Amino acid sequence: MNTTLLYFTGTGNSLVVAKDLAAALGNAPRIQIAKKNWEKITGTTWSGTVGIIFPVYFGGLPHMVERLAEQLQVEAGTYVFAVATYGGMPGVAFEQLKEILARRSIPLPAVFGVLMPGNYQVMYPPRSIQQQEDQFSREKEIIKAIAKLVSNRAEVLRPRPGFLTRVISPLFYRSLHPATRDRHFRATDTCNGCGLCVRICPARNLTLQDNRPVWNHQCEFCLACLQWCPVQAIQYEKKTVRRGRYHHPEVRVEELYQD
Ligand SMILES: Cc1cc2nc3c(=O)[nH]c(=O)nc-3n(C[C@H](O)[C@H](O)[C@H](O)COP(=O)(O)O)c2cc1C
Ligand code: SF4
Ligand code: SF4
Repeated sequence: MNTTLLYFTGTGNSLVVAKDLAAALGNAPRIQIAKKNWEKITGTTWSGTVGIIFPVYFGGLPHMVERLAEQLQVEAGTYVFAVATYGGMPGVAFEQLKEILARRSIPLPAVFGVLMPGNYQVMYPPRSIQQQEDQFSREKEIIKAIAKLVSNRAEVLRPRPGFLTRVISPLFYRSLHPATRDRHFRATDTCNGCGLCVRICPARNLTLQDNRPVWNHQCEFCLACLQWCPVQAIQYEKKTVRRGRYHHPEVRVEELYQD
């Protein structure tokens, strides 16, 4: 039975999960959920097994993943599962995905969470190298277990989030507007106009003007531009000036735009 993995990523955690899972499932093909692949992903009727892999944003789904769930087409009998990577609080991301798919009569029989280093450096610094390494080794073990369950088309449910999570998560989530979130990004004089941020943006939200990036208000808030800039020229207000940067060390930046 064919398996396809669809993944969204900003700093590589979900890409590593997709790669490890693809390897454990016998080199399953994986496709990045990004604007460049949109027609292909939404124009195909998928069958067999389909995995949706994504980071949790404000207790919910990245907008592009939400839109994908609204447009995904699968043949009857397809086993659809989801893996969320998150830094500590998955909120209601699984419930959100399940609900959207259910409206379209697509069952979501299995969901998995993988704790990874939190990359929301707008609010906190990156985890220590030791903490990151501990999480990376746990991820490898968890993926083996997930691969077994997926191969058996198992049903894997998670406990319903508590009342407070169900109430608070949607409040945070509302602040994640693609049209407004990027207003606080800026490139400092350190920018050398290399254009890497433009190439890696999954939303094609960046253009270069006078050798500086410009944000065009279709932002997924994945922080890829800020996290991967080789000279740390991108800041979010003043909040990220003294914060370090993070991306998964197993990922080469080229993988974000070549895949
Ligand atoms: C905008 C934004 C919001 C986030 N919100 C949450 C959250 O609500 N709960 C959580 O546990 N992690 C949150 N995170 C952390 C990411 O989910 C986590 O680091 C994820 O593994 C990043 O995946 P990636 O490297 O594939 O982009 C957030 C990250 C970003 C950029
Ligand atoms: S990646 Fe950094 S240095 Fe390169 S264009 Fe973007 S902001 Fe400037
Ligand atoms: S502009 Fe930056 S934060 Fe927004 S989607 Fe593109 S890479 Fe991600």
